[in-house]
Amino acid sequence: MILQNDTRKHLQAHHGDFTEFADRMVETYQGRFDQVFFAFLDQYISPHEIKCAIDLGTGPGVFLRDLKARFPQAKIIGVDAQEAMLIRAKELLADDVGKGLNLIEWDLACPPITPIDNESVDLVTSNMVLHEMQLPTKLLQEIARILRPGGWLVLSDWIRFDLQVYSNGTLPETIENIHHFAEHCRYTPQDIVWMAACVALQPIEWMTRKQGQRFLGVFEKLATKSD
Ligand SMILES: C[S@@+](CC[C@H](N)C(=O)[O-])C[C@H]1O[C@@H](n2cnc3c(N)ncnc32)[C@H](O)[C@@H]1O
Repeated sequence: MILQNDTRKHLQAHHGDFTEFADRMVETYQGRFDQVFFAFLDQYISPHEIKCAIDLGTGPGVFLRDLKARFPQAKIIGVDAQEAMLIRAKELLADDVGKGLNLIEWDLACPPITPIDNESVDLVTSNMVLHEMQLPTKLLQEIARILRPGGWLVLSDWIRFDLQVYSNGTLPETIENIHHFAEHCRYTPQDIVWMAACVALQPIEWMTRKQGQRFLGVFEKLATKSD
């Protein structure tokens, strides 16, 4: 499902120029996906238990390549709806797409949130995406639906922190400045953990990173009573 108009407007306000933003995501990749991130992933996720992994809001595809290297036997799927991101990802992954790695163009803000079967996924990852969702609870509910009982969610995102730090000590003077602050510094870690727990995604471990500006957590999908 291609990017719907409402989502496009929302993301344009958030990202500005989509192509520049895709370039920025490539340039800043290593800051987000650093040794701490991968050590955390490796600590909780055993490669032999992963047959299918999905990255929601995958961006320009760099992380998919790293996921494939970590879980070479698994089917790896990246989902995004922004055209500039998908163009980058297709270029970067030209040799891998169709060989155990696939991209799905899908708007995660509109039902059906994904085209993925119930309980068919062992690992969901989603990085720097939850704050971009107008209704983050819908995405979390969807993650709980597609994960098998005992499967994992690894999630990272911006969290709420001080305006002075966010704006590098410069007093914000435009509506855009304030809008950006409100969009990024939205949820506390406890908000994220609580929203996830409400949909049977039990926190195993979480931490704040980057001087309290980011969240990194791993959750396990609980079996429901009928399982
Ligand atoms: C901040 S970027 C992070 C990209 C990537 N996860 C990373 O960390 O490098 C957020 C990504 O979420 C995607 N995204 C946001 N809302 C989306 C939606 N409704 N449907 C699909 N993708 C969405 C954006 O297109 C973008 O690629």
